[in-house]
Amino acid sequence: MSNSSESAPAHGAPSPLTARACGPLKGAFKPPGDKSISHRAFIMGLLCIGETRISGLLEGEDVLNTGKACAALGAKVERIGEGEWIVQGVGLGSLLEPKQPLDFGNAGTGSRLMMGLVGGHGIKAEFDGDASLRKRPMRRILDPLVLMGAEVLSQGEGGRCPILLKGTSEPSPIEYRTPVASAQIKSAILLAGLNSPGRTVVIEAEASRDHTEKMFQHFGATVTSEPFGEHGRKITLEGRPKLKSAPVIVPADPSSAAFALVAALIVPGSDIVIEGMMMNPLRTGLLTTLLDMGADIDVMNPRLEGGEDVADLRVRASKLKGVDVPAARAPAMIDEYPILSIAAAFAQGETRMRGLQELRVKESDRLAAVADGLAANHIAHEIVGDDLIVRGTGVVEGGGTVATHLDHRIAMSFLILGLASKNQVTIDDEGMIATSFPTFKPVMALLGATFA
Ligand code: S3P
Repeated sequence: MSNSSESAPAHGAPSPLTARACGPLKGAFKPPGDKSISHRAFIMGLLCIGETRISGLLEGEDVLNTGKACAALGAKVERIGEGEWIVQGVGLGSLLEPKQPLDFGNAGTGSRLMMGLVGGHGIKAEFDGDASLRKRPMRRILDPLVLMGAEVLSQGEGGRCPILLKGTSEPSPIEYRTPVASAQIKSAILLAGLNSPGRTVVIEAEASRDHTEKMFQHFGATVTSEPFGEHGRKITLEGRPKLKSAPVIVPADPSSAAFALVAALIVPGSDIVIEGMMMNPLRTGLLTTLLDMGADIDVMNPRLEGGEDVADLRVRASKLKGVDVPAARAPAMIDEYPILSIAAAFAQGETRMRGLQELRVKESDRLAAVADGLAANHIAHEIVGDDLIVRGTGVVEGGGTVATHLDHRIAMSFLILGLASKNQVTIDDEGMIATSFPTFKPVMALLGATFA
């Protein structure tokens, strides 16, 4: 892979960072490219013969590791400008066997999607990553891949990385019900199913983000999605499509926008505009919840960009109230619970976030990490089963030091807390922020945030 930011920094000594109360946040900013779509753009480029041009790619470490993995499987991956990349793929069915283990760093999405791809090709690859990735469950991906004909040659304890996977060049078409609402499981199966001679069906009880399905369609595959049960989807993919290169324009990531969005709501006097945020309804659960809480957010200029709905959001500091967040909303705001818990701390009354079991297996045990961070900053809260309850009073004492456990979203969420709490808040390590939002600090500082 050729690019100027090729080697991700090694995460050596932790580097703490402190946030302190700041004046009103003002100005406009465009969040970086969506992480989910950026991973998928590289992968689709690998699967096409010819040139795939990507604009607005998120140049975070997670995505760059997927780019390196695509290069190891035969693609030419080249950076031609800021967020501008060209991938020359080798084509579906023609992936090369990588010579070295594939290192995905911190990235669950990159590793799981690429497992699907390798699982559906007659090649062998070893998957590995950092201490956080090595703790994450992978059986949920391997089980359906084994049903399709892949073999797990070796694995860490409990089906974790490092994993040596041998794929099959004739993946069996399967119909699979995902045990949890997970776009990563769905996508791994669909990526393996691309090279299947038959039809692959994935059924999910709760709809998860649909970027893989949309991307497949954009590249010429036949994939349909129909409602299933009350909240679910049934996705059907015809195998061995003739994929055709197509340009990808990556919209702004709502999961990264979430930090500035909540910051502007809780820092008194703030008034900012978030430009071009993706409004895919399977990603806007946080927006729905904040509006329920009384947030002053205007959705302006709704439009279509790169096949996704986007809009500009004007966000003004608001008096928030506690709300009950239904479990059914979890897939649409799965990565946003840490930052929602910060908004809840500044709200008046109780916010109950239901059905957070999947949070325990993210980059960290996010339920525990959020609870510990709230405790360190004197915010009343409770975990009841899989629900998190935050009891806000509108004022936050702060003053704590928060353990980030190699988790970028814990790091950014608690820095935002420090911008509006009475006392400064320190996180033990800012290093992982680069995995998803490398420009977080300068972008937030331009809006008026104070970090040191
Ligand atoms: C992602 C899906 C989600 C999300 C992750 C990105 C994706 O994970 O948490 O950050 O790009 O498919 P699950 O599908 O496991 O819930």
